[in-house]
Order: sequence, then structure tokens, then C-alpha cells
Amino acid sequence: MQKPTFHAVLVAGAALLPLAVSMAAAQQSPGTVSKADGLAAWKRIEAVVTHPRCANCHVGTDNIPMWTGLGFSKNRPHGMNVQAGTSRIGAESIACSTCHMKSTAPNTVPHAAPHVGLDWQLAPVGFQWFGRTPAQICVQLSDPKRNGGRDAAGLVKHLREDAAHKGFVQWGWQPGGGREPAPGSLDAHIKDVQVWGAAGMPCPD
Ligand code: HEC
Ligand code: HEC
Repeated sequence: MQKPTFHAVLVAGAALLPLAVSMAAAQQSPGTVSKADGLAAWKRIEAVVTHPRCANCHVGTDNIPMWTGLGFSKNRPHGMNVQAGTSRIGAESIACSTCHMKSTAPNTVPHAAPHVGLDWQLAPVGFQWFGRTPAQICVQLSDPKRNGGRDAAGLVKHLREDAAHKGFVQWGWQPGGGREPAPGSLDAHIKDVQVWGAAGMPCPD
């Protein structure tokens, strides 16, 4: 996957708020965290949403999931000519669930089709991250018209609910079978989304 450089603009000029910004800021309302701290949180969010464990399902209109890691030197399209179709679940050809069974058991076997506690499927095409720049992903993720009608709290709710079902999000951090997990942890990611939200969801230029 393309990894565009993120120009970390640590905004000397951005007015820092008088209060020290800490994780406690996560509980505060929008506008209570400085733009610089919001951008720093975004940089960590960016590392998650561009990571193959997340982006390989958040693909575009070709409806083809991606494979990365475990001996594949770089991203490649899913093997066996898998095509998710506009249904995004493979209804038009072979359903994802034929191989990706619904199960909350841990994934342990290398190269086995991963399973989670939800029906395996691509993310809706409007939520495409793969092949987009971090700045593009940031803008769409901060726009309720493009992220499923969610503000920052709504994004956090999605992450928590998905994890409660042992779904895709928690699989990203516990992919098993020798796959590299997404960076950080679910808890740290949730805190970052809260801080980013409290700063008004700033995006890199
Ligand atoms: C197996 C495929 C799959 C993987 C892997 C996956 N997702 Fe998703 N994702 C989905 C689906 C399906 C939806 C739509 C669910 C909904 O909106 O209720 C979604 C929606 C989302 C949304 C809603 C808002 C938006 O604009 O996308 C977020 C946030 C999200 N995923 C985060 C993640 C993160 C973080 C990871 C990695 C830790 C991840 N996803 C990995 C399938 C996946
Ligand atoms: C014929 C069986 C089969 C079907 C059908 C199938 N998969 Fe897979 N999938 C696999 C196998 C096997 C792996 C593990 C590949 C490996 O790690 O070597 C896998 C892995 C994946 C991964 C993880 C890739 C990574 O690098 O994190 C994603 C995402 C994925 N499949 C999405 C889908 C989607 C979406 C569908 C339905 C459109 C689907 N698959 C249909 C067998 C299948």
C-alpha cells in the first residue's frame, strides 16, 4: 500500500489552551483540546486506519479485498479471484462466509481464513481507506455525511460495539496466525479518537 508521508506540522503558531492537555481531555467537549494535540492524535489514528489489518477490508469500487503479510512481500489482491461484488459480501459469486466462518474463537492457524463474531464482509464502499492518502481519509472520517452519520462519540461507539461482538475492529489488534496486529491497542485508539474529536477533528494539510 502506498504510504504517503505525513507532514507533521506541529503548529508552533496554534494557540495552546491554558489548561494542560492530558487524557482527561478525552472526556471534555469539542474545542477543549489544542489543534496541535488533535493533530498528534490524528497521526496515531492514521497509523491504524492505513494499516493492512484495517485497510484491507476498507477497499474501493473494485470490491476486491487485499492480502498483506505472512510471506506476501507486499499487498496483493485476495487470492482465489475473490470478488465481493457490490453486495460487499460476495453474494454475486462466492460468499465470504463460505471460508470466513462466524466464530468468536481466537484465530491461531497461519494462512487460515480469519473469522470473527460478525459476518465477514467488506466495509461499505463509501468508507474506502485503501489507496487513499491519510489526509483524504481524515477528511472523510471527520464528515458525518461520509462516515455513516457519526461524530467522534459515534465513531467511538462503533469501535466499542464492534469489539463487544468480537468483530473486525478487535480482530485488527488480535489477528492471530502470525499476522502483524494494527499498531497500539483498541483502548489507545479510542482515546486518540476522543482527543481528536475534542480538538474538532483537525486534519493534516
Ligand atoms: C473484515 C472487514 C473489516 C476489517 C478488517 C475492518 N473493518 Fe472497519 N468496517 C467494516 C464494515 C463491514 C463496516 C461497516 C459497519 C457499520 O457501519 O456498521 C466498517 C466500518 C468501520 C468504521 C465506521 C466509519 C467509517 O467511516 O469507516 C470505522 C471507524 C471502522 N470500520 C474502523 C475499523 C478499524 C479501526 C479497523 C482495524 C482495527 C477496521 N475497521 C477493520 C469492515 C471491516
Ligand atoms: C475460498 C475461500 C475464501 C473466500 C470465499 C474468501 N476468503 Fe478471505 N481469506 C481466505 C484465506 C484462506 C485467507 C488467509 C490468507 C492468508 O493469510 O494466507 C483470507 C484472508 C482474508 C483477509 C485478511 C487479509 C489480511 O492481510 O489481513 C481479508 C480482509 C479477507 N480475506 C476478505 C475477504 C472477503 C471480504 C471475502 C468475501 C468477498 C473473502 N475474503 C472471501 C479465504 C477466503
